[in-house]
Amino acid sequence: MSHILDSVSFGAIVQVRDRLLEQQAAGRRIFRLESGDPSFDTPPHVREATALALAKGHTHYTASTGIQPLREAIVLKVRRDNRLPIDRADQAIVTNGAMHGLYLTFRALLDPGDEVVLPDPMWTEIAENVRLAGGVPVRCPLDFDAPVPYSAAAIERHLSPRTKAVFLNTPHNPTGAVIPKEELERVVELAARRDLRIVSDEAYEHVIFDGREHVSIGSLPGAEERTITLFSTSKSYAMSGLRVGYIVSRDAHFLERVKKLLRCTTNGVNSISQHGATAALTGPQEATKAMRDEYQARRDMLLRGLAGLTVLHPVVPQGSFFLWARIDPSWRGYQGASDDWAMTNYLIDRGGVGSSPGTAFGPSGERCVRFAFSCDSRQVEGAVDVVRGLLS
Ligand SMILES: Cc1ncc(COP(=O)(O)O)c(C=O)c1O
Repeated sequence: MSHILDSVSFGAIVQVRDRLLEQQAAGRRIFRLESGDPSFDTPPHVREATALALAKGHTHYTASTGIQPLREAIVLKVRRDNRLPIDRADQAIVTNGAMHGLYLTFRALLDPGDEVVLPDPMWTEIAENVRLAGGVPVRCPLDFDAPVPYSAAAIERHLSPRTKAVFLNTPHNPTGAVIPKEELERVVELAARRDLRIVSDEAYEHVIFDGREHVSIGSLPGAEERTITLFSTSKSYAMSGLRVGYIVSRDAHFLERVKKLLRCTTNGVNSISQHGATAALTGPQEATKAMRDEYQARRDMLLRGLAGLTVLHPVVPQGSFFLWARIDPSWRGYQGASDDWAMTNYLIDRGGVGSSPGTAFGPSGERCVRFAFSCDSRQVEGAVDVVRGLLS
């Protein structure tokens, strides 16, 4: 029998990144549109709070579930901004980024063989974490010709007696899709009817465009007791390296299991990062809004740049900082192939432009690529020129 970790991949995006970095080391100009790390500086008050915590000697073990001021700040924030019915600090758990939150959630939630329905394509780590927990990811293909690509009706078609949970990620990585409130209500109705848990990854809650409002599914009537919501400070405050995320839930049994897992794994998040995150949640929010506006400007730049190309058909991102594009069958291909990897290789080799092959996110990503516009605006602008030159 093979080890469960042998079925987990190292990730296609890492391969692309390594090749780009090799080219950069060889003196070539490269464009980092393959992975999603905010180009912005962490807001000054967050950096100051982190540095102050270090200067004050807050360098010892913390409670494994997080420092009390941060847990209290989380409760205030999710009640005020997400309208989640979280009443007490012990319903909030600080995690080592949302990534670790996903690991904890699935490990604490699933029994071997339990199924989790998730969108396809989806950021790879979701299916991997379901598998690591002994669960079975069930992929529900997104339908971009339907009014809502990931709908309750489509999810229902993927349920079985083994389904334990429905996973949602809105705004979505890799397509930028946002699920409207009415559809979230239908998902809650479905979850209640079939007695399912809802796992909602809201890492991109603040990166949402065209005046849309982020809606947390756990705030909707009927979802309160069955929803686990995950958040991240990585995108909202450009503090991806400080590694702070958080989980909120009203399910005491689930929270107890997570506490046990924390005790046996990380035993808490970096102490000074937690002080930085407290400042992020309680301090001014202007930087978060300014970043969102800049992401929207980059999105528009990319869309303008790709407009008129017959070879790539973009899906307009409603949030997150990813643009998903379908490769037209008329593309002449590269090195004898015309699939997503061929496009990714072509853009790297001929233009130094990074992208991610669609199949890295699941079978529905066949003949699609993802561009990340989290790198700085000059890089996005430069990449647009190169891509137009190569694909016109
Ligand atoms: C959908 C989604 N969820 C969670 C994360 C994890 O973010 P972090 O671990 O930095 O908080 C990411 C990061 O790219 C993501 O795209």
